[in-house]
Amino acid sequence: MKRIVVLISGSGSNLQALIDACARKEISGNICAVFSNVADAYGLTRAQQAGIATQVVEPRAFADRAAYDAALADAVDAYRPDLVVLAGYMRILTPEFVNRYAGIMLNIHPSLLPKYPGLHTHQRALENGDREHGVTVHFVTEELDGGPVVLQAVVPIIENDTEDTLAKRVQVEEHRIYPLVVSWFVDGRLTMRDGSAWMDGKPLSAQGFQS
Ligand code: GAR
Repeated sequence: MKRIVVLISGSGSNLQALIDACARKEISGNICAVFSNVADAYGLTRAQQAGIATQVVEPRAFADRAAYDAALADAVDAYRPDLVVLAGYMRILTPEFVNRYAGIMLNIHPSLLPKYPGLHTHQRALENGDREHGVTVHFVTEELDGGPVVLQAVVPIIENDTEDTLAKRVQVEEHRIYPLVVSWFVDGRLTMRDGSAWMDGKPLSAQGFQS
């Protein structure tokens, strides 16, 4: 069984989708620990309810980002992860942290990357009058929200959508595609090579799979 460590900052609904997929054996892996930079993140409760070890690493205890990320990496490494999953982890990572987990770290981002890296993705899609929006799962590289795309899911933008209604529609897709990508990784079907995502021995296009 592959060892998975999940990093969160908030509600942890994507973490829950992963916990549920592991319980249903759709993912051949164990979530061995959940880390949060936020002490009262609800995702920690979700992890504890599933019997998963949790650890809070609070930024204010560290002099700078480099010290924080070094301590976080040491704590993560204690669990010997095969895969590190960012599930709503809302801190910028240092290049040192990213490179330590090169090829074994995934992120989910609520937009159709390369559109809308960064924050407020739903608001920006609405303000731009987009007809479609969505979510991307990608490998993490030094470029913020810029690593090789594995899978995207597209949702329509409907008249009278608000940030909230749109976010909810996107999250349904998040909870569907993140467990799927994690299962591909733990099954050894998905790798990162030469700056691209590879599936079943073939490089994926820049948009990854669309689903
Ligand atoms: C998710 O919508 C995820 O896509 C987003 O944070 C939310 C976390 O929700 N991630 C980012 O914006 C990363 N840049 P959750 O805590 O309920 O899984």
